[in-house]
Amino acid sequence: MIQIKAGCTMFEDIKIRGVDNLLALMEKFRNDPREQKVDLVVGVYKDDHGDVPVMRAVKQAENHLFESEKTKNYVGIPGDAEFRALVPSILLGSQSPLIEQNRIDCVQTPGGTGALKVACDLLNYLKPAIKIWVSTPTWANHIPVATDARLTVDQYPYFRSADRSLDFDGMMTHLDEHSKAGEVILLHACCHNPTGVDLTLDQWQQLTDFVRERQLFPLVDCAYQGLGDGMDADVAGLRHMTENLPELLIANSFSKNFGIYRERTGALSFVCESAEQVTNTFNAVKTVIRSNYSMPPSHGARVVATVLNDSQMTAEWKAELDEMRSRISAMRSALRSELEQRGIKEDLSFLTNQKGMFSYTGFTPEMVASIKDNYGIYMAGDGRINVAGICSGNLDYISDAFASVLD
Ligand SMILES: Cc1ncc(COP(=O)(O)O)c(C=O)c1O
Repeated sequence: MIQIKAGCTMFEDIKIRGVDNLLALMEKFRNDPREQKVDLVVGVYKDDHGDVPVMRAVKQAENHLFESEKTKNYVGIPGDAEFRALVPSILLGSQSPLIEQNRIDCVQTPGGTGALKVACDLLNYLKPAIKIWVSTPTWANHIPVATDARLTVDQYPYFRSADRSLDFDGMMTHLDEHSKAGEVILLHACCHNPTGVDLTLDQWQQLTDFVRERQLFPLVDCAYQGLGDGMDADVAGLRHMTENLPELLIANSFSKNFGIYRERTGALSFVCESAEQVTNTFNAVKTVIRSNYSMPPSHGARVVATVLNDSQMTAEWKAELDEMRSRISAMRSALRSELEQRGIKEDLSFLTNQKGMFSYTGFTPEMVASIKDNYGIYMAGDGRINVAGICSGNLDYISDAFASVLD
């Protein structure tokens, strides 16, 4: 063995923050030898065979790109121009006055996570260590992303365990008592992760009034557009907010609604008071990106642009997205009715009221452990399940397992 004396020992005292608990749980699931095991952890859409499918329109677009792509040249810091031209109308609707007034622009990012990271880096670049308010609970990666970007994180109440619904009064009272002008508020546009509990349009309107009066700055995370009530319905609240505030940021992901998780496709949109401010913000965003990942990958954005610029592929994509949404909603109803048939007396309406891929079951850590140990059914430690992990083949089994810990 070579003897190295007095070298630099960078890795000697590494302190590990710990990987995301969900990733560790997925590892345990993979190593579980039981044949009937079920994964309700990971947040990806699965079809009734338990597969994570490539959407039909995506396949078609990929075949087209394979034949037609002529270069692998860099895409530039802001990403694919065709893709960027489409994002504002997907989020705000093609008739949005903000588009006409050039009050919105966007950059392509590596997934929704990349958009959130660029957003937080930008906020820290503009106002170092600015405070960002996040919901309790929130997506497991929000706090690490904001903290690593040097923002100061604080939390507002969001979920009421008693009836597994939104604690809107608690949220508003807390923000009223503690938030200050100039601070950032992180909101989920729809299909709140992990709870599945969303604001109504009326609540979005009240929140918008509050945000304007308090002079908070919203960063809206839109990761599940189309998986709750539909592409337009899911962003009605976001659209109201955008039209009634001078500025905000929107981090959106195409991972879920195009099923292109591994292609890392998202966008960061910035709404400003004037076209001139949009140009200035665009330049600041490019500076932040350049020293981070420099430029986004191309493929996913090309797929999205190819699908959305072709009416036949768009129709195919919309139809399949509708199928996905209907399947999730059918599984919510089926699970509820199976549990009711097993004599569960508890109010299970939360299963059908919550939106999107996730349901917050309210299971205690002991219940979660019992279901995992006795049935090999894995869910997040906080009782979050991926409803899309339920299919006709495992519905009975899951219902038996859940009924075993419910009254
Ligand atoms: C709330 C929320 N935001 C952002 C993301 C990130 O999405 P992406 O995989 O595109 O980075 C996710 C993914 O699970 C999410 O649940």
